[in-house]
Amino acid sequence: QQDTFKQVIAHAKEYGYIFSSSEIYDGLSAVYDYGQNGAALKKNIKEYWWKSMVQLHDNIVGLDAAILMHPSTWKASGHVDAFNDPLIDNKDSKKRYRADVLIEDYAEKINQKAQKEIEKAKKRFGESFDEEQFVNTNPRVIKYKTQQKEILERLGKSLTDENLADVKAQIEELEIACPESGSKNWTDVKQFNLMFSTKLGASADSALDLYLRPETAQGIFVNFANVQKTGRMKIPFGIAQIGKAFRNEIVARQFIFRQREFEQMEMQFFVRPGDELTWFEHWKSLRQKWHYSLGLGEENYRFHDHEKLAHYANAATDIEFNFPFGFKELEGIHSRTDFDLKAHEEHSGKKLQFFDPEMNKSYTPYVVETSIGLDRMFLAVFSSALKEEDLGDGNTRTVLKLPAILAPIKAAILPLVKKDGLPEIAKEIQDELKWDFDVTYDEKDAVGRRYRRQDAAGTPFCITVDHDTKEDKQVTIRYRDTMEQKRVPISELKSIIQKAIDF
Ligand code: GAP
Repeated sequence: QQDTFKQVIAHAKEYGYIFSSSEIYDGLSAVYDYGQNGAALKKNIKEYWWKSMVQLHDNIVGLDAAILMHPSTWKASGHVDAFNDPLIDNKDSKKRYRADVLIEDYAEKINQKAQKEIEKAKKRFGESFDEEQFVNTNPRVIKYKTQQKEILERLGKSLTDENLADVKAQIEELEIACPESGSKNWTDVKQFNLMFSTKLGASADSALDLYLRPETAQGIFVNFANVQKTGRMKIPFGIAQIGKAFRNEIVARQFIFRQREFEQMEMQFFVRPGDELTWFEHWKSLRQKWHYSLGLGEENYRFHDHEKLAHYANAATDIEFNFPFGFKELEGIHSRTDFDLKAHEEHSGKKLQFFDPEMNKSYTPYVVETSIGLDRMFLAVFSSALKEEDLGDGNTRTVLKLPAILAPIKAAILPLVKKDGLPEIAKEIQDELKWDFDVTYDEKDAVGRRYRRQDAAGTPFCITVDHDTKEDKQVTIRYRDTMEQKRVPISELKSIIQKAIDF
């Protein structure tokens, strides 16, 4: 697992996907830059989300709210008082950790033991293996799964200001060691607010203390009435937004999974009070379809309903993904009641209600939220796509099997040799295709090496121009995933690529 994760990070750098921020100054912890290919993959993920959430729903509209918001926003939302992480210091190494993450990682290790038993049995029994029956009857798997569940349940109950001592007690009872030094000498657990603060205005006394937004959702709530009135929206309707959020996270080590500056893709769906649980189920199932449609492997997803709910929610689900370091949260779906709109009404003194003509009355709508981290989705797509394949002839290849619709470059156009007029034909094809797709031209090295380079960069098609092309106006198209090669007319290239990336 550790090795796979290292490979993912190294590959992301080598192929221009992700760099450490300000790397020439040794980087900034938990902050990353997206390179030439990373920026394109990110843009494509955003478009895939936006199309399915906004373009395909005539009752969902977009918004682009500012990162800086009036400070009362964060008082109303509860972030000033309660957006905290429980931190614990190791007395020997002086390193600081999120206490809950230390425990969650420990629980995941136990889960991995259960997974190992399952994998072993799978190999032993082959075709006839019944996984469900094995999980329910094998004493070791039952023991590990029960342990994991108990640990997480106790953690869930302890994460309130009053119960923090129990989080420390749990770390001590489980004998969790500091990941860096191995020491088990811990301080008490303390709450730490995650918002970054900054100042607005030049003079010291008139300056207003501000926060960088820790979520995009509040930009949607404070604009509820603006959008509803100017867009003449009728309940139920949604507002969607993609944008940066900032959190002063303590746990680094997880690459782009947990960053201090990241992007969220959030949608708040406003509904009649009483209808929220039906809509919650609706959005759970739509978001599941969205994820499955990308073909990252259904077995890589887990849907985890929360038993313990935040004070503002009456239902919540996490969509977890099998990242290189285990199953972790990728997206959250929450039924947030009328908590946010009511809180903003109270703090602003403005009404945030909807007059429902069918019911002939005004009410504060309830909200179902879908919230996914763009960077986490990027990591899910990227890490599940990266494969080391045995070609069976003593060779292996590294291939990045990105869904074609998300791939930064859709096709590479390669002249077989750098002479005889082949580069000119290849460039003509590039000039033709570039109006519709991101394509690239590559003439350096033997064609086999160029194929490998495009495989590793995630390009789904290579188009090779050879001497016959001059006569028959055909090229060889090579498919990244199967390595199959086909002779096709130049005139058909556009429709072949288009078909592979149709939404
Ligand atoms: N408006 C609800 C909200 O912000 P959240 O669970 O705190 O809920 C939503 O965040 C999503 O944002 C998470 O599921 C995760 O994908 C992403 N996210 C949260 N913190 C992150 C971080 N530090 N780095 C990257 N992504 C993060």
